Amino acid sequence: MTARPIILDVDTGVDDALAIAYAVRSPEIEVLGLTTNFGNITVEEAARNSLIVLEKLGRADVPVYQGSAQPLSRTKDEYPRHIHGEHGLGGAPLSKPSASKEEKNAVDFIIEQVRRLKKELTLVFVGPLTNLAHAVQKDPEIADLVGRVVIMGGAARHRGNVSAYAEANIHSDPEAADVVFRSGLPITMVGLDVTMKTLLPMSQMPVWREKDASLGGFFADMTEFYIRFYESAYPGIGGCGLHDPLAIGAVVKPELLETEPMHLVVELAGEELARTREVPGEKPNIDVCVKVDADGFLKHFLGRVI
Ligand code: RIB
Ligand code: CA
Repeated sequence: MTARPIILDVDTGVDDALAIAYAVRSPEIEVLGLTTNFGNITVEEAARNSLIVLEKLGRADVPVYQGSAQPLSRTKDEYPRHIHGEHGLGGAPLSKPSASKEEKNAVDFIIEQVRRLKKELTLVFVGPLTNLAHAVQKDPEIADLVGRVVIMGGAARHRGNVSAYAEANIHSDPEAADVVFRSGLPITMVGLDVTMKTLLPMSQMPVWREKDASLGGFFADMTEFYIRFYESAYPGIGGCGLHDPLAIGAVVKPELLETEPMHLVVELAGEELARTREVPGEKPNIDVCVKVDADGFLKHFLGRVI
């Protein structure tokens, strides 16, 4: 089996870090590089955190390309540090990565790799869609060249997590999501409709610590902070949402998910700002994940990540 090349775009926070681990531990895919974005934290911190996580995983060979610092047309200066921790990796101790990010910008790397690999390449976006919007505005042909785009974001038939309607990645840059949703890119949306069913319980943390005091301890310190946020925000929920890892799951084990073609638009103003709203009867533009084998996914994810 030849590994499928992917680029993983991250705003490395806790679930992004878990997605990076799942991706580099999955033989079905080859991570050509990480591209970073703002969202959970600043774009610079996302690059630093990605380098730290890759080094912890023994994969400092994977290049990291820094991307957009701000949304397409809004200003973002607040970050959910109460969710992902002050530095973005929950309660894990911060270290200085030995590798450095690449000189090349994330957007140029994305365009270059789409033009090189065409239908072989899958782009996985688990943060705001700003880098992808810039790429498709700079080189519109990539929408027809790339093989597949999987995004963690949105909520088609599920309440949001930033407002009743808005999911965080879309909310961080609604205009970028609007550009991407209108672009003709072959998108699979892994939204809250399915990711809020894939929960990682606190009981897994001592298992990680026992299995590997160093890496398991690092990931447990990181994730416990995130699970505690979920327990305070959603009393009785029983764990944290494995949002970003499920986007990787959609690539390495697509049979875990059921999709439905929909026409989704992004609301750009008002009370429903950043809602990914379904428009029945219009030509579908996105394959939306509507069902997940949550137990099957958790088993597969835990079997690989530590
Ligand atoms: O809504 C969940 C998404 O927002 C995840 O990608 C998480 O990392 C945050 O970026
Ligand atoms: Ca993310």
